[in-house]
Amino acid sequence: MNASLHDITPHSFTELQMPNPFDVVVIGAGPGGYIAAIRAAQLGMKVACIDEWQTPEGKPAPGGTCTNVGCIPSKALLQSSENYDHAAHAFAEHGIKVSGLTMDVAQMLKRKDKVVKQNNEGILYLFKKNKVTFFHGRGTFAGGAAGAWQIKVGGKNEENLTAKHVIVATGSTPRALPGAAFDKQRILDNAGALAMTEVPKRLGVIGAGVIGLEMGSVWRRLGANVTILEALPAFLGAADESVAKEAQKTFQKQKLAIHTGVKVEAVKCAEAVTVSYSDSAGKAQTLVVDKLIVSIGRVPHTAGLNAQAVGLKLDERGFVAVDEHCKTNLGNVWAVGDVVRGPMLAHKAEEEGVAVAQRIAGKYGHVDFNTVPWVIYTAPEIAWVGKTEQQVKAEGVEYRCGSFPFMANGRARALGDTTGFVKIVADKRTDRILGVHIIGPMASELIAEAVVAMEFGASSEDIAMICHAHPSLSEAMKEAALAVDDRTLNL
Ligand code: FAD
Ligand code: NAI
Repeated sequence: MNASLHDITPHSFTELQMPNPFDVVVIGAGPGGYIAAIRAAQLGMKVACIDEWQTPEGKPAPGGTCTNVGCIPSKALLQSSENYDHAAHAFAEHGIKVSGLTMDVAQMLKRKDKVVKQNNEGILYLFKKNKVTFFHGRGTFAGGAAGAWQIKVGGKNEENLTAKHVIVATGSTPRALPGAAFDKQRILDNAGALAMTEVPKRLGVIGAGVIGLEMGSVWRRLGANVTILEALPAFLGAADESVAKEAQKTFQKQKLAIHTGVKVEAVKCAEAVTVSYSDSAGKAQTLVVDKLIVSIGRVPHTAGLNAQAVGLKLDERGFVAVDEHCKTNLGNVWAVGDVVRGPMLAHKAEEEGVAVAQRIAGKYGHVDFNTVPWVIYTAPEIAWVGKTEQQVKAEGVEYRCGSFPFMANGRARALGDTTGFVKIVADKRTDRILGVHIIGPMASELIAEAVVAMEFGASSEDIAMICHAHPSLSEAMKEAALAVDDRTLNL
């Protein structure tokens, strides 16, 4: 059973003369950690949060991967590059003539850095407002036991803290390709991909996952020739097949060269980067590029925690092993976000952070993995929640599908962005929505309706009966719901 808030007043620590007593010490201030810290403080606990990320000037930069080299800067560059692409290719149709269009990559990076800084400062402000004590440095288990863990903060200002509860939220780091270590010059991870000071003529990407597609899109829009090499035979295997097919077609039109089913054999780095690989037919191929982004997934980040010394159990893949409540094998030690199983998404990390803070306070904490949305911020955007048609079929569930193309949506036509569709998969017997798959404009925003509907156990009929504003992209959701019952109105 969780300790109640009643049990965890700091007095017990002071009485025992423990240094810096806290009810909760959170290690890591990414979306999992900083949100957990804020929620725990809101619930009346005395909270510290430790994070080691720093700016080039050595200043604290809380927010983790997401804020510093992930969600936020990638979306900033996606926006800048999309604006450029629109000015170059889409404005003319609207009767807007642009002459002498130029791009200033340095300004794009400067803007991106400013957006990141605003987020770093926002978190520090939130800590202050919620009375979370922030420590800049590395958090390490220094001993102790359940109820009185000793945590050392390393770095310029060393501190020793005592914690009744510890939340490990140390995130993840990029996976390197064997034999091709990141060198920050030519072989780049996500941080490098977000910091190129000029557009490479030839850009290679290993891995056609989320980072590969988003970063490939940024640099393609800015003029790079982009080639993406993907090991799996199927493109975007996690998405619904119809969405993956539409995406592949669209990316091909955008001249993103994507080769699936390849096996990368060797990477040689000199003036240029040479990638030797065999293609899907087993034929030897060579790709020569100026820069190579390696985006083949991420690994949990536990180095520096001193996990072994206190017996914190890791699973066979190196994640901190947790149960469904994010409890580790150690008493009062919890772990959330990328460092534990489940999707590596900021919103999943946040939900776990809140749930753990609630549980520590003896309250109810809840994360529904069935309704965690996925979004890929390419153009068109791709978003889904729940099961794909293929998964439902494989499970032997009887189902019906309804799709509606943005081509037949008035708002999409007015926007001039009619690629893609909304697809709803519903149980044939009960009509309950099992999955929603969107490729098209603003899919990242549209998916929220589907998440709410699924969380409330809605049927496709429920969505079909709801009044949606006209003209809006959301009408495509209503029409897809109508299509489940074969009664679309606008197609
Ligand atoms: P992190 O954000 O990694 O934070 C962990 C923090 O802990 C870091 O600040 C780290 O320095 C610190 N730390 C680690 N060890 C210690 C220690 N011992 N002591 C002190 N501090 C320590 N997800 C989305 O949902 N949407 C997106 O659009 C999206 N875009 C992404 C784009 C890119 C390029 C990348 C790489 C990722 C993206 N993600 C996105 C994934 C998202 O960034 C992660 O899922 C999220 O950051 C995980 O949060 P976290 O709190 O678990 O860990
Ligand atoms: P990913 O798991 O999305 O994609 C990695 C891809 O690389 C896969 O398609 C995999 O088959 C392929 N691959 C693996 N080894 C390979 C090899 N040797 N050769 C060729 N291909 C290989 O991982 P990615 O893109 O690195 O992103 C990491 C995480 O960050 C993701 O899990 C995602 O959750 C998160 N992220 C989320 C975003 C979002 O929500 N919009 C944006 C960017 C990242």
